[in-house]
Amino acid sequence: MRGGVLDCGTMATVLALEPSCDETAVAIMRGRDLLASEVSSQTQLHQPYGGVVPEVASRNHLVFAPRLLETATRTAKISLGEIDCFAATSGPGLATSLMIGASIAKGLAIASGKPYLAINHLEGHLLSPFFEGHAEVEPNVSLVASGGHTLLVEVHSVGKYCVLGRTLDDAAGEAFDKVAKMLGLGYPGGPEIERCARKGNATRFSFPRSMLDSRDHNFSFSGLKTSVRYTLEKLHSLGDEQLLADLCASFQAAVVDVLVQKTIAAAKASGASLVTLSGGVSCNNYLRREIESAARRSGLRFIAAPRALTTDNAAMIAFAAQLRFRDGEKSDVREEIDPNLVLA
Ligand code: KG4
Ligand code: ZN
Repeated sequence: MRGGVLDCGTMATVLALEPSCDETAVAIMRGRDLLASEVSSQTQLHQPYGGVVPEVASRNHLVFAPRLLETATRTAKISLGEIDCFAATSGPGLATSLMIGASIAKGLAIASGKPYLAINHLEGHLLSPFFEGHAEVEPNVSLVASGGHTLLVEVHSVGKYCVLGRTLDDAAGEAFDKVAKMLGLGYPGGPEIERCARKGNATRFSFPRSMLDSRDHNFSFSGLKTSVRYTLEKLHSLGDEQLLADLCASFQAAVVDVLVQKTIAAAKASGASLVTLSGGVSCNNYLRREIESAARRSGLRFIAAPRALTTDNAAMIAFAAQLRFRDGEKSDVREEIDPNLVLA
């Protein structure tokens, strides 16, 4: 895979770790080229608990991270001595998970006398639409929709962000996950709902489109989730396959309608000419299609994160680190992780 942005003269080699939740990931980038991107998912391990257990996650990061480091360096045909900068996600995320990635990156940086860079997970998502084939990060209004966050951000340049709006309760991905659970579908719920929705009628149930008239750029998805619960209670049984498909399609349409309309409104309000999309929920084909055509109708350009970089991965962290390293930045190894890190 080939990334974008860097001047041809800049050929720094960056190794990044991203273990902010239940995915352990390591990536190596040399200049524009992604030499290795390894992700080890713990989804199966957490399934019996019905959600991510921080203690289980961190213990498994400790097992997986050294293995992924070995695989990544082998795949990249590189030795640790050739790395110019070690980066890790410093937040937001689970404290005990973040600590593992940051400790490893700091240890490697100290041992090799190379710089360490702390990267905000949200910045990783936010910049990922520019990963492939873009000459520079352009000003844009960005929708980051994941399992933990739903943000609208005005991006001026690398490191210059203004959060326009965020969810007041559940994140969009969280709503997909919770509704999937109610419907007896697996985790993560987003891909399950998208799959079921393919054969469904999105107009059969009219679920609420919250906050469309709120005159701000915030979101709320908890009312929608409650509305699905009430509908389910009235239906009693989910035995009918078509019924399940219609529920999924109607729910998906409600989430996507709100995401699309609020993003386009934010772009128009801020005078942006470009809209970008990233985060786990941006994997959703219906969302990608709808936001792209709404942007086109409004005369806006649109870029989505490459599909492989939508859910959590270390390539997006390596990419953000490349951009910051190019700009001469480095972090203090005494800098602590921050589970509640905000985008600033
Ligand atoms: O970015 P991500 O991997 O992790 C966080 O930073 O939270 O996002 C994971 C979220 C989950 O909630 C998952 O259900 C959602 O992304 N997701 C999707 C799809 N694929 C993943 N949501 C809707 N449609 C999808 N196809
Ligand atoms: Zn994420």
